[in-house]
Amino acid sequence: MSARVSDHPLIRHKLHLLRERATEPKKFRELVRELGTMLAYEATADLALASVRVETPLTSLDAHRLAERVGLVPVLRAGLGMVEGVWEVLPMAEVWHIGLYRDEQTLRPVEYYNKLPVQPTVDVCLVLDPMLATGGSAVATVDVLKRRGARRIKFVGIIAAPEGVRRLSEAHPDVPIHVAAVDTHLNEHGYIVPGLGDAGDRQFGTA
Ligand code: PRP
Ligand code: URA
Repeated sequence: MSARVSDHPLIRHKLHLLRERATEPKKFRELVRELGTMLAYEATADLALASVRVETPLTSLDAHRLAERVGLVPVLRAGLGMVEGVWEVLPMAEVWHIGLYRDEQTLRPVEYYNKLPVQPTVDVCLVLDPMLATGGSAVATVDVLKRRGARRIKFVGIIAAPEGVRRLSEAHPDVPIHVAAVDTHLNEHGYIVPGLGDAGDRQFGTA
């Protein structure tokens, strides 16, 4: 499976600002939030609907409401910045936190926090992480979610490397990958090129 890369002009515009080295943390956070809203809108285009009778001030009609409960799974730290944006379009979504960092030498994900429910309480999980680099963090997150019984999972990111798309697709072919861009490659330190640098550091002003 390949990634579903948005070609929406607003997403492309915001992505160029996000990549720009001179974009300061306040603006960077704003862009991550806004991209979260737009990417979630695209990633939820196939959610199931149920019929509902609605009384308007003038008459009544058969309309539609969402039939699926959605849970957001931000991967700490960088995924946190996407939550507020996704909540703009899914205000009822539960949020389950998982904390992973990449070991700088091995590039393997290390789990340090897990607030996922033991039983799934939603129908669809959106894993939120701006960066899909080697894919290790995303695969580990989906592994944990599936062990906890999650059935329908989607990955929503901002920039992916081809290596990460391949690894996540091979490990979890049932998980669609929604991103704003797939860049050219990873460098020797596991950073996405051209990328945007370290998404966590740029949001939180750390270095
Ligand atoms: C970043 C990013 C992903 C991970 C992607 O997190 O937010 O979680 O790297 O890399 P991978 O695909 O090779 O696993 P990082 O480990 O830098 O932690 P942070 O969010 O706390 O900065
Ligand atoms: N994590 C980031 O924040 N940036 C990258 O380029 C790769 C992993």
